[in-house]
Amino acid sequence: ETVTWDADAAEKGGYEHYMRKEIHEQPEALRQTITGRLDVDAGDVDLDVSFPPGFLADVEEIRVVACGTSYYAGRYAAQLFEELAGVRATVEIASEYEFGAGRTPDRTLVVAVTQSGETADTLGAVRRANEAGARTFAVTNTLGSTVTREVDGTAFIRAGPEIGVAATKTFASQVATLAMLAVSIGRDRGALAAADARAVLEDLQGLPGAVQQVLDKESRVREAAQTYQDSEAFFFVGRALGVPVALEGALKLKEISYDHAEGFAAGELKHGPLALVTPETPVLAVLTEGSRANETMNNVTEAQTRGAPALGCVSADAEYDTLDVDFPVPDVGIVEPLVANVYLQLFAYHVANEKGRPIDKPRNLAKSVTVE
Ligand code: AGP
Repeated sequence: ETVTWDADAAEKGGYEHYMRKEIHEQPEALRQTITGRLDVDAGDVDLDVSFPPGFLADVEEIRVVACGTSYYAGRYAAQLFEELAGVRATVEIASEYEFGAGRTPDRTLVVAVTQSGETADTLGAVRRANEAGARTFAVTNTLGSTVTREVDGTAFIRAGPEIGVAATKTFASQVATLAMLAVSIGRDRGALAAADARAVLEDLQGLPGAVQQVLDKESRVREAAQTYQDSEAFFFVGRALGVPVALEGALKLKEISYDHAEGFAAGELKHGPLALVTPETPVLAVLTEGSRANETMNNVTEAQTRGAPALGCVSADAEYDTLDVDFPVPDVGIVEPLVANVYLQLFAYHVANEKGRPIDKPRNLAKSVTVE
C-alpha cells in the first residue's frame, strides 16, 4: 500500500484554492489585526506605532494613496477619517497622485495602503509626498517591505501571508486597521468622545464572529452563483461605506471569473448605467448600516423594474422582501459593509469556480505589481 502525499494540497489546508482558504481565514486574520490593540473601556487604540510627538494631533488633512483593492480599503477609510477623526480626507489612485498647489504639506498626512509594500505606483506616490514635505504613513501586511523604509510610521495589518492573487483577507484587515487609526486620530485630536469610540471598538471586536456567521452561509452563496453565473454582466451598488465594497465586489468578480462586472454608487445608476440593465444583469447591493440602505434599495427597485434580478446583503434588523436573494449581515455598525464584502468574495469565488477558472493565478495579473 502506498500513501500519496500532495504537498500542494497540504499547503492549502484541504482547500482547493488559496483564495477560498484565505476567505475562510478572515475571522482569524481579523483577530490578529485587533489583538492587544483595543482598550475598549477607555475607548482607545494602541497601534504600536512610535510617532514623533504631536505627529497626528495637528494634522489638517489626510490623503490616502493606494491601488486596486487597497485603494477601495482607502475609500472606506477616508469616510471613517472624516466621520470619526473629524479630518478632511481624500483618497487617490496612487498612480494619479500629485501634490497640488495650495496644499499645506506639513499639515498633511499621506497614508499609503499596500498589502505587499512593494507596489511601484504606491511607492512612487509616497516618494512624491516625501519630496513635497508631507508626513507619510504606511498600512501594510509585510514586515521589512520597501514602503516601511520610506515612511515616517507604519501600522501592520497582521493578516498573515496571502498567496492568491485576489486580495481577500488583507482587505478586511486593512479596513480594520484603518478604522483603528481613525479612532486613534479622533481621540488624539479630541474629535471623538470616549463613548463613541467605545461603540466603534465594540463593533470591531464583533467583526471576527460576524464574518464567521457569513462564512457559515457559504452554501447559499454557492447556490446563487450557480443560478446567476451565466449572466451577461454583474452590477454592484451601494452608498456611503457601501460604495467601496460595491467597487471591490466588482473588481473581485472580474479579476477571477473574467465576467464583466461594474461597481457604482447606487444613486448613479439612473445617470447612465441603468441603460445597461436587463434581466441578464443581476444587481448585487450592499444594504447594511453605514450604506444608506433604504435609498440604495430604491435604486435597486429601479433596476428590478427593468427585469434585473436583485441580490442584497442586508442588516439583521432590516427586511426587503422584494429581493430575489438576501444574505443576512450581523449587527456590527460601521463595519457591516465590510462583513457584506465577504458574501461578495464568496460570490466571485463560486462563479469563477463553476467556470473552472485558474482562481489563484488569473491571466495577465501578478500578486505584486512592481512596475509603474
Ligand atoms: C486585488 O485583488 C488585486 N490583485 C490588486 O488590485 C491589488 O490590490 C493591488 O495591486 C495593490 O496591491 P498592494 O496592496 O500590494 O499594493
